[in-house]
Parts: sequence; structure tokens; C-alpha cells
Amino acid sequence: MTSSKNRVLIFDTTMRDGEQSPGASMTLDEKLRIAEMLENMGVDIIEAGFPIASNGDFEAVREVSKIVKNSVVAGLSRANFKDIDRAWEALKGAKRPRIHSVIATSPVHMKYKLQMEPDQVLDTIIATVTHARNLCGDVEWSAEDATRAEFDFLCRCIDAAIRSGATTINLPDTVGYAMPVEYGKLIADLIANVSNSDKAVFSTHCHNDLGLAVANSLAAVANGARQVECTINGLGERAGNAALEEIVMGLRVRNDFLPYETGVISEKFVAASRMISTVTGFPVQYNKAIVGKNAFSHESGIHQDGMLKNTQTYEIMTPESVGVYQSSLVMGKHSGRHAFRKKIEEMGYQLGQNAIEDAFVRFKALTDRKKQVYDEDIAALIDDALVRGQDKIKLVSLMVIAGTKGPQSATLELDVDGEVLATTATGNGPVDAIFNAIHALYPHEANLQLYQVHAVTEGTDAQAEVSVRLEQNGKAVTGQGADSDTLVASARAYVNALNRLLVKHDKTLSVSRTASV
Ligand code: KIV
Ligand code: ZN
Repeated sequence: MTSSKNRVLIFDTTMRDGEQSPGASMTLDEKLRIAEMLENMGVDIIEAGFPIASNGDFEAVREVSKIVKNSVVAGLSRANFKDIDRAWEALKGAKRPRIHSVIATSPVHMKYKLQMEPDQVLDTIIATVTHARNLCGDVEWSAEDATRAEFDFLCRCIDAAIRSGATTINLPDTVGYAMPVEYGKLIADLIANVSNSDKAVFSTHCHNDLGLAVANSLAAVANGARQVECTINGLGERAGNAALEEIVMGLRVRNDFLPYETGVISEKFVAASRMISTVTGFPVQYNKAIVGKNAFSHESGIHQDGMLKNTQTYEIMTPESVGVYQSSLVMGKHSGRHAFRKKIEEMGYQLGQNAIEDAFVRFKALTDRKKQVYDEDIAALIDDALVRGQDKIKLVSLMVIAGTKGPQSATLELDVDGEVLATTATGNGPVDAIFNAIHALYPHEANLQLYQVHAVTEGTDAQAEVSVRLEQNGKAVTGQGADSDTLVASARAYVNALNRLLVKHDKTLSVSRTASV
């Protein structure tokens, strides 16, 4: 894949590097929706997973490959034939497949992780990139830990990868160690010193351990990189990756300084951010650039005064340009199907007829319990329905006795694979009683790692969004639940986490992810 001089390709790795964050697992159904959203947003390359990591990852890459029409679909592999063959098996149904092969290049990684001499690494690059290129016309080669590699060795590796058929050269700052000036210079020096550098697109992949992932990526672009690897909300290993929305808006708002273009539709950012937050259960910090709740809020008197006179006093981009949606339809008890459909379309959701009907029924139930229904309420109930998707275990009913006089108890019905089971359990408080009841009906070994409640809007009748993180055998998942009753939302969130754990354990792991890249 080539890029014009000023065109920067956006490579999204939310479903691969992003999913590697502990607790951020995604189901197949969710990955398909995310892929559709990324393609509609104009992302150039979608990395859908790491096919050899698990059967689930393989299946996700294969199914994403089938539905994506315009974007390139990439699958990660380590530098060995087995990984590459598995990646190709998953990708070959794609209209535009890409094999992404990675090997470590820094002394510390080669010595301790790979236990290989530099020359062996070089030979491996030649053999594996050649193999990948014989299978697929689009091959990306990544020099893991490039920012801690020796410069001359890195040049030899890049030269060998390009000679063997790599069309994209990715230079990850794997441990988030680089400084912007230093990283920009590295990219410029590599392009200048590798004799065949004009035959490949140079790419950046920055981690955020020092909070510099976006700054480093932009420095790389200023110095010749024409592909940026990034994720929605900056999701990713440890402190995360460069945030896609920040990269794109950095290039757009400061086009005077960085005269480069992307093909991304920035108006879809807020909806995308919300989708990824809902799927993973990772909340978006209020002051997060571009998509945080406060990114366009002005509280102080001086700022409000300035904004009333001219919005440019305190806003360097318009809220609309990133999809902050200004409500034109107020929804309530008397709103009908037509208005509801229009509202959810305005909010950026694309739902099928059945999903709209289900959401409408829940919306009507909500208007009976809540005086004012805000956009956030509608978003919460739609997200809740989407997250629940194809859950095997479903909450049927819940009755709780709470208060100062114990024991607090929960009477709960669950539908487990079509069979309705009921029990009553007590606990140290109503939430504990609910979780004990779920445990009694569906015994499991998972440990509760996190229980978090968040009010969707203000007021005592606000809906609650609950996140529950469960961990079993080193695998963590986060479940979500929303309801105007916090205890119902808690039960939903726990049941959703349990369903995610089931999906995760259904996948037979063929290699350990953390040990692999
Ligand atoms: O951070 C990293 O080095 C990676 C590679 C697999 C590209 O994620
Ligand atoms: Zn990474």
C-alpha cells in the first residue's frame, strides 16, 4: 500500500493492542461492530487481532476479513512460519489483507526474550518476510522495541525486510521510552540511511508510558512517517497507545504546522469513543482530550464570558467537528417511534429494526420512571442492550431486601441456556447478596476485582452504569450493566462479566499472549 506525499495512513489497533489491556476483552460480535464502525470512520488499516493467539482471535480476524470492504485488514504474527500461516489462513478472505510480522530488535529483547544473536534475527527477518510476501502482497514488518535498538543494526534489519518484500516498516516505541525530538530524528535518520527506504511506507507505533505517545507519533509524521498506529481512546498495553482521535485532530487543527491529511471522519469520534468504553468497561477520563465529557465544558465565569462573545476565545476546534452532539429533539413520555429513531440516528447509532424496537421498549419503560430522559440515558440503554448481545446467562428478575436491619437478601431468577433458575441468598449488604445469589445459581471460580457505579446523568432518578471486573486463571473481563435501579444494574453487570468469562474460556489458547509479543 502506498501513500501520497502528504497523506498519513491511519492504522487502528484497538482490537489487537487495545484488547491486550487486562480486562479489555471483546466478543466476536463486538469486534464485528467495531470493525464496521472503524471502516465507516475512514480508517485505512484495521488490525483485527493476533490469529495464533487463540481460536477466538483467529475467528475474529477471519470474520472481520469477510465483512470489511474498503479498509485493509491486518493480522499480527510473530516471525515464524507457523504464526504467519495462521495469520494468512484468517486473512485470506479479506478484500485487502495484510500480514503484520514482528520481531524484537533491541539488545535486551534479543538477548533475554528471544535468546538469539543479532545475525540470527536478521536471517529470521529475511526468511519470514519472504514467506509472508509469498502469501500476501501487503506485508508489514515491525521492529519491536525499535527505540532501544542499535541504529546500524536497525538499518540492516529494515533494509533486509524491504528487500524481502515488506511494504510497510513499523518502528514501535514498544515501552514508551522515546522523547519526541529523539523519535522524530530516529525516523528521519532511518529514512535517510536505509538505501531502499523509498520502497516502503514508514510507520509509527507509540506507547504512552511517559504520556508521550501522541507527541512521538506526530514528531514521526513531521519527519517522514506516513502511517500512524493508534487506538480509540488510547486503549492498549499498560499505559496504552497513541489515541487515534488525538492524532487526527492534532493534524487537522494544526495543519498550518503539520500539513498532512488523513481520510478519517472526525465527526464520528465521540460515538466511537463511547462504543469502545462500553465494550471494554474502561471509562473515558472526564478531561480526556477530544472525547472527554469536559473537553468542551466551560465552567469559570471568565471563560463563559469569552465563549459568549466568540467561541474561538476558548475552543480551538468545534464540538461538532468531533461529534459532540447538540440535541435538537427533547425526548419524553410522549415521544413516538419515529422521533426515537431520528434521535438515535442523530446520536450516531446504526441499529437494525429489531434492535431499534427493543431499545424503544426500554426507552418507554424508562420514561415511566424518569421525568427527563437525556441523550446520555438513551445512549446508556442502547449500549446496555448492545453489550448484552448474545449472553448465555440472562437476568430474569430481582427482588432485594436492604436497609439497616440485616440480613440483606436477594431473590433472583436467571435464565441459563433457556432454563430459568431461582434462589434467595443473603450477604453483607444488598450487592453482596445479589452476587452470592448469582454464584449459587451459576457456581464459578472467578474473583471480583472491581465494582464501580457511575451515574449517567444528574438527579436521584438518574440511571446507574455499573462495571464489574472478574478474574479467573489470569484472565480478566469487565461486564457492564445500566438501569435506573442501581441494584438491577449491578446484577446485570455481574451477569455480563460472567458471560464474557465464558466466551473467553471457550477459546482454547494456543500460546500465551503476554509471552508472545
Ligand atoms: O508495541 C509493540 O511493539 C507492538 C508490536 C507488535 C507492533 O505492539
Ligand atoms: Zn504495541
